Amino acid sequence: MNISILGTGIVAQVFAKALLAKGHQVQLGTRDAKASLARTEKGMSGETLSSFLQANPLVKLGSFQESAAFGEIIVNATNGAGSIAALELAQEKNLNDKILIDIANPLDFSKGMPPTLFIVNDNSLGEEIQKRFPKLKVVKTLNTMSCEVMVDPARVRGDHTAFVSGNDASAKAQVTNYLVIWFGWKPTNIIDVGNISTARGTEQLLPLWIRLFGAFQHANFNFHIAK
Ligand SMILES: NC(=O)c1ccc[n+]([C@@H]2O[C@H](COP(=O)([O-])OP(=O)(O)OC[C@H]3O[C@@H](n4cnc5c(N)ncnc54)[C@H](OP(=O)(O)O)[C@@H]3O)[C@@H](O)[C@H]2O)c1
Repeated sequence: MNISILGTGIVAQVFAKALLAKGHQVQLGTRDAKASLARTEKGMSGETLSSFLQANPLVKLGSFQESAAFGEIIVNATNGAGSIAALELAQEKNLNDKILIDIANPLDFSKGMPPTLFIVNDNSLGEEIQKRFPKLKVVKTLNTMSCEVMVDPARVRGDHTAFVSGNDASAKAQVTNYLVIWFGWKPTNIIDVGNISTARGTEQLLPLWIRLFGAFQHANFNFHIAK
């Protein structure tokens, strides 16, 4: 399957590796491929984008537009503050009727750590994306855990939960199936929370997630809903 990953950060890199390992074709999207390749600072993955691409030569890089056109399905791994702008650069014609797996969180680091949420309470980033791109099938998921856990749930012992929010039931069922076959999620650990407005709840788990990260000093944990 051709998969577009909008973004070049740690989430995009971890996703790209996991999807390649499953035999998919992956193209990352960025604002300016030349400028992104020229960056010398190491990201949270511990390497530069160019060293990541050298080590993973099957991963393609293009503009947001090229990547979105390439993908049968699109993953939003952009910074929450830039997600709408990135999707606008991707262009509606390359997005319409496709599924967007939306992993982004509306985190605001402008006042330092810990970040706050710049969309909160009666709205969510997932809803803002869905409103701006009504034909895109936005499925918010996996944003409540570290990217390593997203693609390798076995890093956390026992049962733990992936939430799915979105307006299109068939898109949510497809994404649920992808989480199972791509990454080994147990179907019983995936909870369909409801329409895209339920992303308010999952995005608002982030202030707690960040404090748990501070308390544990590592990211190999996740939320578990027990009934
Ligand atoms: N790190 C995790 O484990 C984790 C867990 C859960 C959710 N998330 C969420 O996943 C997303 C990706 O996180 P990350 O740490 O990998 O990357 P990030 O540093 O949050 O975002 C990097 C990407 O955002 C794009 N971007 C930033 N500002 C932009 C703007 N104004 N217009 C267009 N694009 C813009 C960048 O484009 P360029 O390539 O052009 O620079 C880059 O590709 C975030 O929303 C984060 O909250 C992360």
